[in-house]
Amino acid sequence: MRHLITTKDLEVDEILELFEDAKEFLDEKARTLLSKKSVTTIFFENSTRTLSSFESAARRLGASVLRLDVSRSSSSKGETLFDTAANLDAMSPDAIVIRHSNSGVPHILAKHIHCPILNGGDGKHAHPTQALLDLFTIFTHFKGKVKDKHILIIGDIKNSRVASSNIELLTRFGLNITLVAPPHFMPKSPLNKAYKLDEKLIKSADIIMNLRTQTERHNKSIYASLKDYANDFCLNLRLLDKHKVIILHPGPVNRNIDISDEVLNDNRSFVLKQVKNGVAIRMAVLKKLILER
Ligand code: NCD
Repeated sequence: MRHLITTKDLEVDEILELFEDAKEFLDEKARTLLSKKSVTTIFFENSTRTLSSFESAARRLGASVLRLDVSRSSSSKGETLFDTAANLDAMSPDAIVIRHSNSGVPHILAKHIHCPILNGGDGKHAHPTQALLDLFTIFTHFKGKVKDKHILIIGDIKNSRVASSNIELLTRFGLNITLVAPPHFMPKSPLNKAYKLDEKLIKSADIIMNLRTQTERHNKSIYASLKDYANDFCLNLRLLDKHKVIILHPGPVNRNIDISDEVLNDNRSFVLKQVKNGVAIRMAVLKKLILER
């Protein structure tokens, strides 16, 4: 049985197969591939896109969805996790999608549960389906020719699980990554780094990925205000000019802090395409993990 805890759980050829399936699923037709299967979602941290995307994906494949409401749980974390694992297992789901603010929780749960675990984001650690949908978006746009494409990853990279999953995955597919961030948001990394966002850097990019400032993961306020951060790193039309590039953001976007309103409305912004692709990718992943058990 397979789990999807990090992008490393999948080989390159398996990812290419997922992309083939996802391409078909973009027709948004309902399927019966997972009829009689049940998918449990359990999100200990807020989510807009990922939860609804996984649930739509499961339903579009004909599976039933059980959402566990844990938002008001008051038990201590250790107890909650242990009890949760036992209770979940007793319901015999065919897959569990979990999000948690602590890194490593999906990995721990996987040891106690007898069905595939899909990580919907754990702390700062990993968000594998987000990276898969980002790569799928890049891959379809460039018709598979992604090797040596230059991507800027801009923002709070150090605290972002989206960034760490993308760095692992995009490196494996041969993309050339530059991390763009102020020093306190820059992780330790052998990748190219830039501490300033300017026109020259943007002109060198084929893809720009902006990330949200993860204020909930900061122990203290680092920038005096998000406005100060925006002055230096917000992607706006002046910086972008007429440069041909695709712009990605996993959402939720802090408008005019990460990306300006004008850029979000520009046809170079692929943010909503990512959301659409996300459902198709999650269908492909659910199909693979549940049917290959
Ligand atoms: C991200 C997440 O929750 O990790 N959003 C998402 O899943 N689409 C990014 C974020 O919260 O900034």
